Amino acid sequence: MKSIIVSIAAAGLMVAGSAMATDMPDLAKKLGCAACHSIDKKMVGPAWMDIAKKYKGDAGAEAKLITKVSNGGGGVWGKVPMPAIDPSGKKQDGIKQLVQFILSLDK
Ligand code: HEC
Repeated sequence: MKSIIVSIAAAGLMVAGSAMATDMPDLAKKLGCAACHSIDKKMVGPAWMDIAKKYKGDAGAEAKLITKVSNGGGGVWGKVPMPAIDPSGKKQDGIKQLVQFILSLDK
């Protein structure tokens, strides 16, 4: 009985949480980005909305960020570097989609 109440409460929290902020796309969860990034809060990595603001109006940003996400690197946002997500080049479609999504967050 107790566990039923707990799981109902947890489900309620999840609904409330997702209503407050834009959710990470499924692709971001699949590729592991969601472990370090969120849409609007700094976690291990910068908030994706902040990235969108930083590169607003930068025509080369998309290509630059695809390379950065694929190969990793650091020094732009702080001391913690981002690991290479796709050193073998097998997930380029997904990374391109996510970078376009990130850059679209500045509205
Ligand atoms: C292990 C943690 C971690 C994971 C996983 C991760 N990131 Fe990051 N990300 C970071 C950190 C830390 C930075 C800041 C790097 C810096 O300061 O240059 C960052 C920076 C970025 C930036 C900005 C780069 C710049 O030069 O301004 C983008 C875009 C980004 N991440 C996208 C993604 C995407 C897309 C994924 C999933 C495919 C992902 N990240 C997965 C930690 C992570």
